[in-house]
Amino acid sequence: MRDKVSVIGAGNVGATLAQRLAELDLVDVALVDVVEGLAEGKALDLLEAGPVVGYDSQVVGSTDYAITDGSRLVVITSGLARKPGMSRDDLVTANAKIVGEVTTAVMEHSPDAILIIVTNPLDVMTELALRVSGLPRTRVIGMAGVLDTARFRTFLAAELRVSVRSVEAYVLGGHGDSMVPLRAVTTVAGVPIGRLIAPERLEEVVQRTRDGGAEIVRHLKTGSAFYAPSASAAQMVEAILLDRGQILPCAIHLEGEYGLDGVVVGVPVKLGTAGVEEVIEVELTPAERAELVRSAEAVRETIAVLG
Ligand code: NAI
Ligand code: 2OP
Repeated sequence: MRDKVSVIGAGNVGATLAQRLAELDLVDVALVDVVEGLAEGKALDLLEAGPVVGYDSQVVGSTDYAITDGSRLVVITSGLARKPGMSRDDLVTANAKIVGEVTTAVMEHSPDAILIIVTNPLDVMTELALRVSGLPRTRVIGMAGVLDTARFRTFLAAELRVSVRSVEAYVLGGHGDSMVPLRAVTTVAGVPIGRLIAPERLEEVVQRTRDGGAEIVRHLKTGSAFYAPSASAAQMVEAILLDRGQILPCAIHLEGEYGLDGVVVGVPVKLGTAGVEEVIEVELTPAERAELVRSAEAVRETIAVLG
């Protein structure tokens, strides 16, 4: 029997993630949404794509968490998405209620699962899920750094007219305006980015990365990004399922790493079968360290809203 990955929230991110997971043909997928029929319909549609695309993953959908029983991983995407003019933090109260209830239901059915949180404001929702689940921090992981880094790499590759595959980068910190795209360790085929782009232009790329989510919201008007977010969550799921030991920037509750304690922010972590197997401390410049501290403070202020 295959492992099961459950996706809570069958909206844009959740349904696209379910599709990506089914297409991996590694696991069965359970999709849950509070809206009657939504998860059932999308799951059946995905199941019927199997013979064409060529996967045997079972995909089921329901409003009932019974279908998530014994999940190896659960990805929480349920909640409100940003609309034009809204920041990620504007979502905190409404989404805290949803993520709190969902985490409780998930834990009743899958106490051994690893949780990946996607709902915004990401770092705060990850902290909330950690508290509500009572799981060790290594099993409650927020998705944002992979997405923010993907945007940074996309913009750098376009600027330099090279393949995105040749750009190595990290975006750390909170998933908000204070995120920290690292300059010192960003390289193209091993060449430091500072030697390839003028400082002012690099700062423009950094700013576009910070505004990456809002840029998509401005285009879509009725929702936020979901193709790159679902791809990012799928990469994390795959790294854990296949015990890759892949180092990806993910949000985790820090306990002294980077000089930060008791706050969830994005840092590079090694993902494997146990979840986060190691927090990797890359060398930061004094300016980057100061930016990371400021970003963590911004997250802490929003966490305080949770009480
Ligand atoms: P969406 O509106 O398309 O889907 C959200 C789904 O959650 C809806 O189908 C809704 O019915 C469902 N839902 C609401 N309350 C629920 C509950 N109590 N139980 C189960 N399902 C429930 O939104 P989208 O675009 O899928 O985004 C989902 C969340 O992910 C948002 O909070 C968004 O801001 C966040 N997000 C985070 C990213 C990140 O980098 N961490 C990237 C993209 C989105
Ligand atoms: C994004 O960055 C809205 O957090 C979401 O696209």
